[in-house]
Order: sequence, then structure tokens, then C-alpha cells
Amino acid sequence: MDIEQLKRLKDVRKVVMLTAYDYQMAKILDTAGLDIILVGDSLGMVVLGYEGTRQVTMADMIRHTEAVTRGAKSAIIVGDMPIGTYGNIGDALKNAQKFIEAGADAIKIEGNKPEIVEALISSGVPVMGHLGLLPQTAEEFKVRGKRREEADRIYADALELDGLGVFSIVLECVPIKLSKRITDAVGCLTIGIGAGAACDGQVLIVNDLLGMDEDFNPKHIKIYAHLSETIREAVLRFMEEVKNGKFPDDAHSFH
Ligand code: KIV
Repeated sequence: MDIEQLKRLKDVRKVVMLTAYDYQMAKILDTAGLDIILVGDSLGMVVLGYEGTRQVTMADMIRHTEAVTRGAKSAIIVGDMPIGTYGNIGDALKNAQKFIEAGADAIKIEGNKPEIVEALISSGVPVMGHLGLLPQTAEEFKVRGKRREEADRIYADALELDGLGVFSIVLECVPIKLSKRITDAVGCLTIGIGAGAACDGQVLIVNDLLGMDEDFNPKHIKIYAHLSETIREAVLRFMEEVKNGKFPDDAHSFH
């Protein structure tokens, strides 16, 4: 998929993006008709059990991007470049290419790095930007752009990224007023997480939406299923049936 095709997403009414990290989840999201799958570096927290995203490596991301691309046949796949892999143009080009070879249609990078974005786009790699709360470098996980000065900086960064030709920008944890101001001003697609309804699309971490971690429930996450409960109940039933001799029964055994 080339940059021009990706830019046409702006015409889709409310683009929906979710993260996925493995083959089976990618297959489910893809058959549901999801627009975009992000192989996010949130992998670090939700799959690998780290505190944040900073320990995630290229090797981790490429392995999981390959798994996702095996499962998704139609959705656009975006690979999230981990911290330290796009600090200079050489690294950015080399590592972005690895995502493309792994089957990603585009890559995402955090912050406004004009020379890196320009080099990636000139080399034919579609780029998704990410502004507002930047988990790779944030010291504190809080809403960004509440104060005028910070809001103006995020707005200016969005205009610059748009001018450089990114096909989309993720806006994470910014006030509704700011995400609306940006969405109205840019030509590229805005995708919000904790950024209100004015964005062109929305993204959530799939494990959050599915209620996989009962201890994690920030304001901007809506839980659509309670899978941790469902899984625990299934495991308890299995344990009980094995212990009392009900499983395996005749129907699940070979003669
Ligand atoms: O890594 C990730 O999952 C992300 C989303 C929160 C946008 O960057």
C-alpha cells in the first residue's frame, strides 16, 4: 500500500485502529473488518510485562509484526518503531525497512522529528506521527496541551508533520479542544486515544478494550468485554473437571 492510498483514509468515516501483537488476535481483528492494526510498542507492557515501552527492541517488534501480518489479510498494518531505533536518518531508514520487510504497510514514530520523517517519506515509507503524550519519553503519564503554550507547540508540530506528508497522526491524551483544532487544520488523518470524538478515528490497546487486566482502568479506556474473568472461569472449570475425573470423557478420547 502506498502513501497516496493511505492518505485516502481521510475520506473514511471514523477510522478504527486497534493494537495487536500476535497471529490469532490479528486474524480476529482482520475478519471483523478493522481498518488499521497497530503493532504497538505497548507490547512491552501488555505482552512482555515491562513497566513501559522503553525496553522493547527491534527484534521484539519485528517478530510480533511478522506474526500479525500472517494473521491479517486486509487491514492496514502499522509497525511502531521502538525508542532508540530512529535517532538518526541512517538508523531510521534501516529499521523502518525491517518493518516493511516484516509485512508492515507503514511505521509510527513519536514526536516531531522533521528530518527523520522527511527521509522516511522520501524513501517511500509511509509514516504515522504521534503527538501529545509520548510514552517512550514521558516522565509522567498525564494529559498534554492543557496550557496554551504546550497546546500551541503540539498544534505547530501537527502542522509541520502534516506538511511533511505523514498520512496520519495519533493524538494521545490531549484535550478535546486541541484535537479538534488540529483535526480541522491538517489534511492527514488524526487518530485519537484519550483525545475526544473530534478526531478522524480512534485507537485503543486491544487488551484494554477486552478487559485483560483488571488493575488497569484509566479514564480514557472503555472496557467492552471482561476477558480476564471469562478466562479465569474457563480455567477453573477445566481444573475442576480434570480433578474430579470429568475431563477427558469418552467424547474427547480416542478408541
Ligand atoms: O504502542 C501503542 O500501543 C501506541 C498506541 C497507544 C497508540 O502507541
